[in-house]
Amino acid sequence: MTEFPHARILDARIHHAAAELHARARVTPKLAAIAPGRVNIVGEHVDYAGGVVLPFAIDRACVAVAAPSNALQFFALDLNQEWSFAAASDMHATKGSWQSYIQGVLTLAADVLAARNIRLHPMSVAITSTVPRGSGLSSSAALTVAIAKAVEGVHATALFDDPLELARLCQHAERNFAGVPCGIMDHAASVLGQHNRAIVLSCREPNSFHYTSTPSNLAWLVVDSGVSRSLAVGNYAALRNASDHAAQTLGVQFLWDATEEDLNAFAQNLTVPQRRAATHALGERNVLHALATADVAALKRELNASHQSLRDVLQVSCPELDHVVASAQRLGAGARLVGAGFGGCALVAVESPMADRVAAAIRDDFARRFALECNVIAVTPSNGARVVDLA
Ligand code: GLA
Repeated sequence: MTEFPHARILDARIHHAAAELHARARVTPKLAAIAPGRVNIVGEHVDYAGGVVLPFAIDRACVAVAAPSNALQFFALDLNQEWSFAAASDMHATKGSWQSYIQGVLTLAADVLAARNIRLHPMSVAITSTVPRGSGLSSSAALTVAIAKAVEGVHATALFDDPLELARLCQHAERNFAGVPCGIMDHAASVLGQHNRAIVLSCREPNSFHYTSTPSNLAWLVVDSGVSRSLAVGNYAALRNASDHAAQTLGVQFLWDATEEDLNAFAQNLTVPQRRAATHALGERNVLHALATADVAALKRELNASHQSLRDVLQVSCPELDHVVASAQRLGAGARLVGAGFGGCALVAVESPMADRVAAAIRDDFARRFALECNVIAVTPSNGARVVDLA
């Protein structure tokens, strides 16, 4: 892909946020917390069903430049909005707003600090992000993780020894304060990411994970269908509900554990959405078992199989995503929608030398069909959240 190396764009964002923080809050920026978005190779809509997922952190991230100050102040630079209050107890964010994610993290982090007799220090934070919003790349998880890391940086202490605990705190912030009943995958990927590796994450507590290398000759493209979606409204919660109820009916703690025999035996007791949830979970498990991440052909094949299930069984795709995926597959790539679906992005895996050609063809195909441009970016498996000292 002919693209300005993203590391330099992130650096420029950090400098911009630092200058803005200085100008708006009159404080000297102390640190930049950087938390990436993610894609997921396979295992979609199974993190809340106790399944195994295979995400990697991408080189697009949320940046929170922070400094201790006299008040709690947050500047959402990309939205040109500000949120400030004198004390943590004055926070009253509307559920689902960007402020609610911050309120969640601050409230939960304050509790963790309080248990160690540390008071949440007032701080000023300037936030900007290169993770496209509402596109299935976990921009909101990146926001929560960036804020949590900024809290750690300002207090010069880790909130937890175990990085997965930090991911859990961010997940709870999103669930309880923003109102999205999400799983652990997005926050875990943002926290755990490693260069050139994907994370094999078991999404049941106690969570466990290990890393697997991604093929070096493979390029990953993310194609934005332009159809925006919101997890907070309806569909995602309904899917999750169906998954939980299907597990109950099939007599398993997690839907991921249901077998084909269970499904056949109890099929008539399941509602249509519950049956779809169970069939999809079973399919994703088969995909995961068939997957050898070092084998490019297997990877592409399983991506395609996963999309088919998301489209036909779970029914979370849309014509724009199906079109992108079909174009990519016609060109010999593997592709599927990524994240919750209902719009957002498709992930395309293709041998590196073909990446530019495939990206251009996908764009042309999309423009011909929808008379619209779709954005295509290349992403690489990247390191997880970190704090950079600016002082
Ligand atoms: C969203 C949620 C995740 C996961 C995916 C679907 O990204 O935040 O927890 O459920 O959808 O795999």
